[in-house]
Amino acid sequence: MSSGRSLAPIGVFDSGVGGLTVLRALREALPAEHFIYLGDTARLPYGTKSAESVVRYSLQCAEALMLRGIRGLVVACNTASAAALGALRERHPTLPIIGVIEPGAAAAVAASQAQHIAVIGTEGTIAGGAYQQAIHRLNPQARVEARACSLFVAMAEEGWVDGPLVEAVAHRYLDSLFGAENGGAARLDRAYPDTLVLGCTHFPVLCAAIRAALPVHVGIVDSAYSVAAAVAREFAGSGQAGPGGVRWLATDGAARFARVSSTFLGATVHADDIEIIDL
Ligand code: DGL
Repeated sequence: MSSGRSLAPIGVFDSGVGGLTVLRALREALPAEHFIYLGDTARLPYGTKSAESVVRYSLQCAEALMLRGIRGLVVACNTASAAALGALRERHPTLPIIGVIEPGAAAAVAASQAQHIAVIGTEGTIAGGAYQQAIHRLNPQARVEARACSLFVAMAEEGWVDGPLVEAVAHRYLDSLFGAENGGAARLDRAYPDTLVLGCTHFPVLCAAIRAALPVHVGIVDSAYSVAAAVAREFAGSGQAGPGGVRWLATDGAARFARVSSTFLGATVHADDIEIIDL
């Protein structure tokens, strides 16, 4: 329902352009809403940094968005959600803050018939065990396999989203998770997961290459739509009169951000519309 008033925007941040896969789902779910998107491109990737650094970066991203008057925050980065959600909520106790891990875990538990789930993400997300814990909170009996796929982030930022190179990397990361080692066909049995969670917001743009490396029966979970549904629930009844829009912020490289963003967002962002800020 629309209030007819112009409300403060919702802040969204990621280490780079990955969070645009979440913003895309948010724009579809809340077309009249105003968003401010911040890509911390100067410090990407977050996934190979220590949890302490990711917490510090995330608090700075939130601060920059708070200064611009947001009324809610979406942490559109699994690495930052895994490391910093607690610290963000402690620093901003009255601000609604939504991360991507819980909605992703809930979507995976809902999707997996055998409750055997594979999660791929950055080194930081996987090593911290946030997905494994979130899934086990929902179903303590679920089996969870997790694998860091750090190269996927670099390929996505480069705009390399399909073709033989990406598929070869996908096979290298995924084959052993699904019992297709040594060049054999992936095995169709309960020893292997039936669901794969894309536990990094950069990964959905590689979905076709990832799909090609998986046994056909394996379902893929992209948390973007569950996150958008959670945000829509949180802000139900406080919607804008519309039309909505996005204000763009990045910490480096407006031209590069603009070039790669269309793959992630499904719409063009112009370099001139991106404000470069220091955190
Ligand atoms: N897109 C981010 C995530 O969802 C992180 C990528 C990175 O900076 O390493 O984890």
